[in-house]
Amino acid sequence: MVSEEHNDTIGVIGLGHVGLTTALGLAEMGWSVVGTDSDAEKVALVQKGSPPFYEPDLEQLLRKHLGNGRFKPIPDVEQALEQASTLFVCVGTPQKSNGDADVTAIEGVAQAIARHLNGYKLVVEKSTGPVMTAHWIRRTIERYRNGDGELDVACNPEFLRQGTAVHDVLYPERVVFGLETERARDILTRLYAPLNCPIMLTDLNTAEIIKHAANAFLSTKISFINMVADLCEATNADVTQVAQALGLDQRIGPGFLNAGIGFGGYCLPKDLRAFMRIGEVSGVDFSLLREVERINLSRVEHFLGKLLENLWVLQKKTLGILGLSFKPGTDDIREAPSLEIIGRLLQEGAVLQIYDPQAMSEVQRIYPSEAGRISYVSSAYEAARGADALLLLTEWPEFKDLDMAEIRRTMRLPMLLDGRNLFDPSELRRLGFTYYGMGRP
Ligand code: UGA
Repeated sequence: MVSEEHNDTIGVIGLGHVGLTTALGLAEMGWSVVGTDSDAEKVALVQKGSPPFYEPDLEQLLRKHLGNGRFKPIPDVEQALEQASTLFVCVGTPQKSNGDADVTAIEGVAQAIARHLNGYKLVVEKSTGPVMTAHWIRRTIERYRNGDGELDVACNPEFLRQGTAVHDVLYPERVVFGLETERARDILTRLYAPLNCPIMLTDLNTAEIIKHAANAFLSTKISFINMVADLCEATNADVTQVAQALGLDQRIGPGFLNAGIGFGGYCLPKDLRAFMRIGEVSGVDFSLLREVERINLSRVEHFLGKLLENLWVLQKKTLGILGLSFKPGTDDIREAPSLEIIGRLLQEGAVLQIYDPQAMSEVQRIYPSEAGRISYVSSAYEAARGADALLLLTEWPEFKDLDMAEIRRTMRLPMLLDGRNLFDPSELRRLGFTYYGMGRP
């Protein structure tokens, strides 16, 4: 992957999931990158070689490029803005109470750039901003500018997934550049030249819509298959086979057709709501997406219904929980279905034995350990011991390799609720489990 080293310095503002991975991806492509963040503690961790979040392969890449000097994390945002002429804006766009994306941090960066326009700057929007964000970045910089440097603005949306972020940045399926000038096109094309993938050139608004539409479409696929899963349950059919057959049709594709307890994380739910708001303020009927969200929000209730149907009363029943993060390969629990499920189970008076390979300390901050109510254990086997049911909430690959016969032996009742359809139902039934998947007979 590494190409010959280049001299131009690139600035990355915001060292969260997207920013840090982008910075290291650019370093891996051979560029000199200076990274900065308004959170000094985060920068200090990165300087020491520790990513502030868990992401496979990221620490190794960080240490490599700190070591060879290609990546320099610095706490002084202004210094980074002055040193670099291409600036990737990777700050967060959290959700406001009305569902809008909060672009305050992007505006703050635009203001800071305006104060440091000491030469030509290409400002690249990487954060997921609503359509028109790049236009507003340009307008803000032009309004508040001090220096007389020239300015271009571009949008280069990010499609990386947590858990496979390093791979996704180095081997993307496509790269999109929203552009206004040839100069910006030439710079970005040269930057990404080491990647061997299709590049699509669009205008700014189109690039921003591509990002939101991609996440909204992925959410739609998931809710669609979850709706079909409910029909499969009602008719004793198998949604995994339905999904397999659908996926063989190239027009549909096999990805994002895993039925389960629904989509979570920092991106899909938030971006779906932001896109719905964009439709609303633009006077376009996005009610399709409201249904997508409604189906997703109903998944937890549906899952818990199976548990109540089978255990009748949860008071003082011991439940083993496998998996907390919103998906495998990350310690991120934002909008993870596990949080709502745990809250509901505690309300019902259940006793929880919880295990996740990465995300336990995060969840412990919300639901601290409490004797006789909630304990965090060090293996899936401990979570299952003495339990009346085992609930699989995240499909970590290591769960697939568990000795299920051993687990069956230690459980009080051998019941398994598989919220992600990870296990083979016939195999588990052969071992004596009462098995419930999502949309499987
Ligand atoms: C998502 C998109 O997939 C990325 O392309 C995008 O760049 C990113 O958001 C972003 O906007 O930053 P991510 O949030 O890392 O990536 O996670 P996904 O892999 O999309 O999974 C999201 C949720 O959907 C998870 O809770 C997962 O369990 C669930 N899911 C996924 C399903 O329930 N079924 C599926 O078939 C696939």
